[in-house]
Amino acid sequence: MKEELQEYAKQHTSRESEALQFITKATAEELQYDDMLSGRQIGTMLRLLVQTSNASNILEVGMFTGYATLSMAEVLPEGGKITALEMNTLYMSIAERGFDMSGLKRRINVIHGNARKTCRELTDEYDLIFLDADKQNYPQYYADLKPKLKPGGLFVVDNVFWYGGVIELNDRKSRAVHELNEMLVNDPDMETVMLDIRDGLTISRKRIR
Ligand SMILES: C[S@@+](CC[C@H](N)C(=O)[O-])C[C@H]1O[C@@H](n2cnc3c(N)ncnc32)[C@H](O)[C@@H]1O
Repeated sequence: MKEELQEYAKQHTSRESEALQFITKATAEELQYDDMLSGRQIGTMLRLLVQTSNASNILEVGMFTGYATLSMAEVLPEGGKITALEMNTLYMSIAERGFDMSGLKRRINVIHGNARKTCRELTDEYDLIFLDADKQNYPQYYADLKPKLKPGGLFVVDNVFWYGGVIELNDRKSRAVHELNEMLVNDPDMETVMLDIRDGLTISRKRIR
């Protein structure tokens, strides 16, 4: 039943652009790990967050083949930009083709390298940060990036259930994801909701003091 309802939810979520369909197809055809792609539900949720919060400066940590990046870039206001961190050049090459097709490349700045290092070198402040990279480092990313989130800004995290691992806590990644979940819900600076969508999505807003 749960799987049927998940499919039903997907079918009742808005259709994607041609460029997003291209990214989905190319990822499935060219890569073994196409389940890393965020997909229509998370992508559309991010688009709605960008539009309702009027975000114009966005950071994504862990771009993969660019699905979420382009989903958000498509709804940015004129002059808006998204910076995406990724270390894998094969994944980046699929993203580049999708960005070319979209005609929105000018809004997207991809930084190649280990995001543990590149995220510390960023000097901007962001309206929305989407964290979706190496799970074992989730708590450190939060510590590094919270100061770069504007008051009123959104910190969005994917895979917060880590396929159920956050209940058993049997491995390093599960413990790290759980640690971040605890940090967010106990942080008085943040207002947080964890949603049971796909592998869990947290949306956390930095309070305006
Ligand atoms: C789950 S995928 C991201 C999915 C993507 N956000 C989307 O919407 O389809 C995680 C990505 O993070 C990247 N990644 C993992 N650790 C990284 C690191 N330390 N630095 C940069 N990229 C990293 C992986 O190469 C992979 O592409």
